[in-house]
Amino acid sequence: MLEKIDNIVKNFESDLSNTKALKALEDIRIKYLSRNGLVSELFEQLKSASKEEKPALGKALNALRNNIQQKFDDLKVALEENASKDSAKIDLTLPGREKAIGSRHLITQTLDEIKHIFKGMGFSIAEGPELESDFNNFTALNFAPDHPARDMQDTFFVSDDFLLRTHTSPVQIRVLQKGKLPVRSIMPGRVFRNEAVSARSHCIFHQVEGLYVDKDVTFAELKGTLISFARQFYGNDLSYRFRPSYFPFTEPSAEMDITCYLCKGKGCRICKYSGWLEVLGCGMVDPNVLKNVNIDPEEYTGYAFGMGIERTALLKNGINDIRVFVENDFRFLKQF
Ligand code: DAH
Repeated sequence: MLEKIDNIVKNFESDLSNTKALKALEDIRIKYLSRNGLVSELFEQLKSASKEEKPALGKALNALRNNIQQKFDDLKVALEENASKDSAKIDLTLPGREKAIGSRHLITQTLDEIKHIFKGMGFSIAEGPELESDFNNFTALNFAPDHPARDMQDTFFVSDDFLLRTHTSPVQIRVLQKGKLPVRSIMPGRVFRNEAVSARSHCIFHQVEGLYVDKDVTFAELKGTLISFARQFYGNDLSYRFRPSYFPFTEPSAEMDITCYLCKGKGCRICKYSGWLEVLGCGMVDPNVLKNVNIDPEEYTGYAFGMGIERTALLKNGINDIRVFVENDFRFLKQF
């Protein structure tokens, strides 16, 4: 028995000296000190010792148990102290954590720039809903009942009379219906067309509409305002031209081109080798539109214009796929 006690002490000390972690220390507790451990086993054997031996052996066993328990406790305290020291260590060489600061979407940035320029020229900002009536989107704007834009192929109809607006021009009607003249506003917003999505066209995009209605508004003012805008927005050195065009809600109508951004007018793939880029549609508000909102076209005249935002943002930033604007890919967004 005494030999066994000696062996246990030796083994225990060697086990303990190899123990560096709290988890391994727990294994040792189970091996020696638990209810089925080696020490309890000896106490069990003590029961069958002779009367003469019992007192001495009992004493030796108690000493063994106290000894082992004490050494175990000491190492446990030491290991616990080490562990808490380790976790409190701070590595000052680690790089700081980057805070993800968001930025405005490139379309929002472009819209803000356009708003800023027109505000500087005395325009206020008006907005209308994306879900519009057929009347505001088409009828009041002098579209014929059988105009191809009214086709289901081109427009997302929600019901017979309501649709997702195909342009920002219906906001002209909403502003004029308020009956407060003169009106000098731009109207930014999202528009929808039932088109196949590709690198060059999308079913969701943005436009900015412009409207000025007052007494004696002239086409010369329209040109002056748009040229001033284009110089501020696209650059002072650009050339521009106005080409006659057709829109149901303006008469006469025109489109404005500027020198191609990329080739500076030499001709490239983007401008289809013409040297020019079409940037907006415009014209004098058609008398029929004024009549539709109870304004007398003999007394008032006006001009209107409308431009797409995505195309502009693409050109200005050298982006070649319009779909990136709605995909919300973080790698794209964080470049702007
Ligand atoms: N609404 C036209 C479109 O979506 C753009 C436009 C052209 C607006 C001429 C106007 C305008 O106000 O006068 O293509």
